[in-house]
Amino acid sequence: MKIAFVCTEAVPFAKTGGLADVAGVLPKYLERLGCEIKLFIPKYYSIDETKFNLHYNWEVGEIYIRIGGHLRSAHVYQCKLVDSNVEINFIDCPHYFHRAHFYTNDADEDERFIFFSKGVIEALQRLKWAPDVIHCNDWQTGLIPLFLKDNYSWDKLFEKTSTLFTIHNIGYQGKFQKTALAKAEIDEKYFFPMGPVEFYNDFSFMKSGIFFSDIITTVSRTYAKEILTNDYGAGLQNLLFERRNDLYGILNGVEYSTWNPESDDQIPFNYSVDNLEGKLKNKEYLLNHFGMTFDNDVPLIGIISRMVEQKGLDIFAESLYDLLKIRAQWIILGSGEDKYEELFRELVLNYPDKFAAYIGFNNELSHLVEAGADIFLMPSRYEPCGLNQIYSLKYGTVPVVRNTGGLADTIKDWHDYKNTGNGFSFNDYSGEALVSAVKRAVETFMDKIAWKKIQANGMKEDFTWDSSAEEYLKLYKLAVSRKNKS
Ligand code: ADP
Ligand code: GLC
Repeated sequence: MKIAFVCTEAVPFAKTGGLADVAGVLPKYLERLGCEIKLFIPKYYSIDETKFNLHYNWEVGEIYIRIGGHLRSAHVYQCKLVDSNVEINFIDCPHYFHRAHFYTNDADEDERFIFFSKGVIEALQRLKWAPDVIHCNDWQTGLIPLFLKDNYSWDKLFEKTSTLFTIHNIGYQGKFQKTALAKAEIDEKYFFPMGPVEFYNDFSFMKSGIFFSDIITTVSRTYAKEILTNDYGAGLQNLLFERRNDLYGILNGVEYSTWNPESDDQIPFNYSVDNLEGKLKNKEYLLNHFGMTFDNDVPLIGIISRMVEQKGLDIFAESLYDLLKIRAQWIILGSGEDKYEELFRELVLNYPDKFAAYIGFNNELSHLVEAGADIFLMPSRYEPCGLNQIYSLKYGTVPVVRNTGGLADTIKDWHDYKNTGNGFSFNDYSGEALVSAVKRAVETFMDKIAWKKIQANGMKEDFTWDSSAEEYLKLYKLAVSRKNKS
């Protein structure tokens, strides 16, 4: 089975969130199941050619892509994903990808990913490599299924190629003005009237992905159901409902060679479920690092998050008055909207022994927070999957989450008498519900026996990629068998 896996970030090359964790790891597991994989990502400015031993592919050479009235050229650089034979193809075009951020609000944001998507298809042509499935991820790749059905339908290379489109987050849809149609050379018939790429008079790349792909997946079972509703579908619920028989939820896995306190080389003290001493030392180290007092009886609550509405920071802000009354310390790692960055900066200034924050992206610190915190808070308004709560389980850092999406599928509420559960969850999207869940966690923290049991329940769980990769493989096979019948 030949799979082209197309994504706009992948660890260890480029990461803004969980998408990168998925794209840099899942292909390896698919390869172990016998797939031949080529991964495609843009060659961003920050990707270090020397460190990753990138080499130029002469077979592909220079590809010209007509876009927005200009002829732009793409080149392909390659290397292998570590510990695997997965070939990574970096689509290079400094004009589009040498920017301060991977995603921008620049006027040509549409062009950047039209270019990338066409670049992938044209690179496949030059490589003369016909994938059985092109696995597209999120709106940035949402035009590929349409391009294959229309702009490139002449090419027999793709005669047997199916497409699978994974929605990692329906909240980001890639909506652009109608002028993007011409840039992409997409026929107007797809726009008018109420066409498959039109969304309230905008051109939606996400909608195109959902409409034209053969199979659609999202990253947890619960989110797959939620996005069919008005509350969670972000306007695409009706289309998703029409396609519900082709829509599947597959939970993301975890790469335990990276996220495991027993072997994690980014934390100062390793530890395991049988000996949690190292965890305590990490907590002390972390608190010292931020100049805070260490007291084993005061729980440390961690947050690692993109600071955006999705992550429930509005109900956090709303309930601050009550949260401050709880005997706990807080460590926050993240960046995003100004209002949240400012809020956390202020909290650190006003309560220096209660709040520590690092505003920015820091991979090493994310491991240390997982290892050093006692509790991990993720009060998301919606959460397609969420990886941090799953990492937290392995690190014995008890998650407090809102019962939604992937959080609902991974975190089971602690039950006092039965001794079951691996965290604390709440239903209502409200400050009150959030505070009450945090209080429950903090009270239980004082009961050392119960706490150890919750930690152990979580640490013993296994969310490795193996079974999820098998589910993807089944869907690839389904897509191929349908194609053969048609
Ligand atoms: P999302 O993809 O919606 O941001 P996930 O929980 O799926 O949420 O994944 C977030 C990933 O990004 C995790 O690996 C987390 O550790 C990482 N991350 C988020 N913010 C930061 C940050 N400021 N610094 C380092 N890592 C971060
Ligand atoms: C998105 C979602 C997150 C998910 C990640 C990887 O960023 O917000 O919930 O874990 O994609 O699929």
